[in-house]
Amino acid sequence: MQKFLRDSGHLIRPAIVLLAGLGLFLVIRGAVVPKGFGQYGHYRPGALVAIRQHPVSYAGQGTCVLCHDEEGKVRASGKHAHVACETCHGPLAKHADDPAAVIPKLPTVATLCVRCHEKDTAKPKAFPQVASAEHSGGMACNDCHKPHDPHL
Ligand code: HEC
Ligand code: HEC
Ligand code: HEC
Ligand code: HEC
Repeated sequence: MQKFLRDSGHLIRPAIVLLAGLGLFLVIRGAVVPKGFGQYGHYRPGALVAIRQHPVSYAGQGTCVLCHDEEGKVRASGKHAHVACETCHGPLAKHADDPAAVIPKLPTVATLCVRCHEKDTAKPKAFPQVASAEHSGGMACNDCHKPHDPHL
């Protein structure tokens, strides 16, 4: 027995290192894993509260057409019926909350339309696309197309 203890230093030392490592792991884990994690598996219930605290930036088109009835009707009758207002106009929740306080700038047509319609072989063939330089000959897209109902 005494002989065993005398000769077992090379076993005890790594065992101590291993236990110290495990202890350190548990301490760090306790410090960094957020509260509630594991309660519903791999999900942290507190995330819902955190997400709800983000400010809302998009009003949604249902809100826009309450006041901009005319633009809503024109768009609904044309090919942009399924392109939401804020896709082109940007997030406007602040304007929708208080229209007089935040008057939105109109989109820059020169960069707006080509974002979706510039010809690109990677796009589905059925999607309407143009080589803008040839197609428009340098004119602005909205000289010929109405943004809310673009078909001529
Ligand atoms: C509560 C009513 C209301 C809501 C909701 C609202 N607007 Fe407006 N909007 C206004 C008013 C009022 C003006 C200012 C009109 C003016 O004086 O020319 C305006 C102006 C604008 C303008 C500038 C018009 C221009 O000629 O410069 C744009 C663009 C616009 N709104 C888009 C939107 C979009 C997109 C939404 C939805 C996210 C929206 N609005 C929601 C009432 C509203
Ligand atoms: C495909 C992009 C696009 C979509 C979708 C779109 N708009 Fe516009 N909108 C524009 C552009 C571009 C202008 C500026 C027109 C110009 O300068 O001639 C504009 C102008 C406006 C104006 C100023 C008045 C006018 O008619 O010029 C208002 C108000 C407006 N949009 C509201 C809306 C609302 C509300 C919706 C959703 C129902 C909407 N827009 C959807 C691109 C868009
Ligand atoms: C967010 C993407 C997006 C933006 C930005 C956008 N469009 Fe479109 N556009 C569409 C979609 C989607 C359609 C419908 C395609 C379909 O019917 O398959 C469409 C349809 C069209 C059509 C009708 C093509 C046809 O089949 O006859 C024209 C013309 C057009 N857009 C011009 C414009 C112009 C001009 C602008 C800038 C004022 C613009 N678009 C901005 C997505 C966009
Ligand atoms: C000089 C007038 C003019 C200008 C400027 C113009 N277009 Fe057109 N566009 C047309 C005509 C004409 C057609 C064919 C008629 C139609 O399909 O509505 C057309 C068709 C389209 C189509 C449908 C193509 C298809 O395959 O069905 C798209 C998308 C389009 N234009 C986007 C744009 C964009 C984006 C700009 C700006 C870079 C622009 N247009 C500028 C006149 C113009």
